[in-house]
Amino acid sequence: MQKKEGFTSKIGFVLAAAGSAVGLGNIWRFPYLTAKYGGGIFLLTYLVLVLTFGYALLVAENAIGRMTGKGPIGAFREFCAGKKSFLGSVRIGGWINSIVPMIIVPYYCVIGGWVTKYVFAMMCNPVARFSKDAVEKFAGTEMAASTAYFQNFVTSTWEPIGFFLLFMLINVIVAAFGVEKGVERFNKILMPILILLIIAICIYCGFLPNAGAGFRYYLMPDPAKFSYMTVVAAMGQLFFSLSIAMGIMITYGAYMRKEDDLVSSVNQIEIFDTGVAFLAGLMIIPCVVAFGGEKAAESAGVGLVFITMPQVFASFPGGQFVGVAFFILVLFAAATSAISLLETNVHTICQELKISRAKAIFLNVMEIIVIGAVTVLGYSVLSFVKPLKFIPKYSGMDILDTLDFISNSVLMPIGAIFTTVLVVAVIGIERISREIRGDKKWYREWVFQFCMCVIVVPCLLVVLLNATGLLG
Ligand code: TRP
Repeated sequence: MQKKEGFTSKIGFVLAAAGSAVGLGNIWRFPYLTAKYGGGIFLLTYLVLVLTFGYALLVAENAIGRMTGKGPIGAFREFCAGKKSFLGSVRIGGWINSIVPMIIVPYYCVIGGWVTKYVFAMMCNPVARFSKDAVEKFAGTEMAASTAYFQNFVTSTWEPIGFFLLFMLINVIVAAFGVEKGVERFNKILMPILILLIIAICIYCGFLPNAGAGFRYYLMPDPAKFSYMTVVAAMGQLFFSLSIAMGIMITYGAYMRKEDDLVSSVNQIEIFDTGVAFLAGLMIIPCVVAFGGEKAAESAGVGLVFITMPQVFASFPGGQFVGVAFFILVLFAAATSAISLLETNVHTICQELKISRAKAIFLNVMEIIVIGAVTVLGYSVLSFVKPLKFIPKYSGMDILDTLDFISNSVLMPIGAIFTTVLVVAVIGIERISREIRGDKKWYREWVFQFCMCVIVVPCLLVVLLNATGLLG
């Protein structure tokens, strides 16, 4: 991407931003969190947060990027230049924002590897193997075959490492040869197909026996299931899925042209991203409940998509082909996100360490390999490692969960606090509002200002204190 060029059209900007926004976050992460944290109540919390917090931060980050034409570190530095003491130190916010994608990309590639594996799994196994009544052994215990298959895969040592490296290499090669444009073009065709497929599966799921209970679980909020953790998890998911609090949107904003309508672009990203996540939930959650009841939903973890979807594909004739297509499409959605994550990191490393692009790619790849491999082994030979053992409520978290938790529930809220302080105290809410509004009418300006000035910081502090275990 050439800095000066800018995005040639608004639709180009929206597609680029949506391409990076829609990924494993929508299809893998959102459904399992929703299932785990009580279904409807999580969905409701999430939607409320997207329309308030998420919106305000998405707008703010794009505006910061467009005002400075720089990435997060440069933008924070520019605004804080010449400011004294506290306001001057807000500039470290740029760094916090830039470190997050470096933590995310290794485990993103691990999950990308799982998706790659499942493309092959759907191709090479008779689909009946995954049917909901089939049982197989894992660690000597009989369980649903698709669960056992998943467990056997992730707890084996070499296979997940192989698929992780394969997924990572494909993405690194695409990034290194600068052929992202080709991938993006592909994506413009494949993403709508993925959405149509998801809708078709949703409709099919509606006819499963017991699907009603599943839809109820997903769509009817049950206040009794609400807890602090619902908010912590929904907030983390919001950051992850909208790619905010990690510098990405600042960078995208920097490529945007002055005459583009920032407000409507942000609206489109918000609607698109949330829409895809909602559909993914609508596809997966009714099936989990239909197959295993609410218990199965509540005990969902990172394997949900990989365990449930094959059962769905096993339940109708020709499901195998649909399964292969599904995982290939998800693979593409994951790859576009992984490539933009990688790009961002390479860009930051190049600029801040003043080294060549090739060296930056190399450094980044080394980082991904080391952290990613440790993450994969966290399910096998390193399964005794529980990094957050010392905090009782997180004592059971494995390495992947820990990386996910630290980036989404700790660092991103901190990054978002810095962004908010930058907007309110350093740039000034009026100045940034003027920049965003341009000469158009901006209906949600009050939401933006109210969130930025009043609610974001206190709420994030509560979330943080709670997440770190200091509050209950
Ligand atoms: N939002 C992406 C998803 O839903 C994941 C993601 C997080 C991402 N941070 C990113 C993508 C940075 C691109 C750039 O899967």
